[in-house]
Amino acid sequence: MSSLSQKHLLGIKYISKEDIDLIFKTADGFKEVINRPIKKVPSLRDITVANLFFENSTRTKLSFELAEKRLGADVVNFSASGSSVKKGETLIDTVNNILAMKVDMVVMRHSSPGAAVFLSQKVNSIIVNAGDGAHEHPTQGLLDAYSIREKLGSVEGKKVAIIGDVLHSRVALSNIFTLQKLGAEVMVCGPTTLLPKYICELGVKVETNLQKALQWCDVANMLRIQLERQDIKFFPSLREYIMLFGLNKQLLDSLDKEIVIMHPGPINRGVEITSDIADSPHSIILQQVENGVAVRMAVLYLLAGAR
Ligand code: CP
Repeated sequence: MSSLSQKHLLGIKYISKEDIDLIFKTADGFKEVINRPIKKVPSLRDITVANLFFENSTRTKLSFELAEKRLGADVVNFSASGSSVKKGETLIDTVNNILAMKVDMVVMRHSSPGAAVFLSQKVNSIIVNAGDGAHEHPTQGLLDAYSIREKLGSVEGKKVAIIGDVLHSRVALSNIFTLQKLGAEVMVCGPTTLLPKYICELGVKVETNLQKALQWCDVANMLRIQLERQDIKFFPSLREYIMLFGLNKQLLDSLDKEIVIMHPGPINRGVEITSDIADSPHSIILQQVENGVAVRMAVLYLLAGAR
């Protein structure tokens, strides 16, 4: 079996184009598996995986759990709420206690940027980053690029606009790294207050006019406005944000071409995207979710195989 260049999946920044190609090729096989009547293979039969979620999640948590179970792994789930974290136990103590129960791999979501890298340096286990603050969400970046490849045939040469709250988004950074490694052109679009100051240094185009961004791109990835991470006002009102940066049918119909619409979820319906667009044939939002399971199966399989 070929293996990844890294022991962990901490961020797309740390992996190569060859790693991404291998993950996609492996995911193709697993996508075929999960569309069979019996959706399981015994590839991780001897492996125990702990899913540690210190932050809320629907898609990523369930997707990892299904991926692990469909590979035949034993799975334990941990949520910070209801755990001894509430009594003051540290991250390292928590994880080392879980690893003492003979756990082989750790999937972790945490609100602190860098938490996954920190953990990989402090404990003896394979670490998969399921989202660390506003830093990276590598499996989301992979499943998004995989979904573009599936829809448009390839990622290379495609123009992808990442639109909305880039500043607070971990999806944006992992998308930028994945898409650039695969040869796509990337644009970010949003109010200047929601675009990080360093963004130009990443080699992306920057646009503050939504219509121009949509006219430029083949794919629009609409990001959620992360009100829970905004402790100050980044735009005057939600109404103004919707008027300037919300994607609706009228705007999409005004383009002289068809574009693919994506959203990592959870959606604020009627804010960054209207329901008629989110649920339209232009949207591949549920295909992204479906592909997430196959891509996570590939990541877990390749990392476990290198043990
Ligand atoms: N896309 C994503 O990370 O969704 P969840 O927060 O529900 O996992």
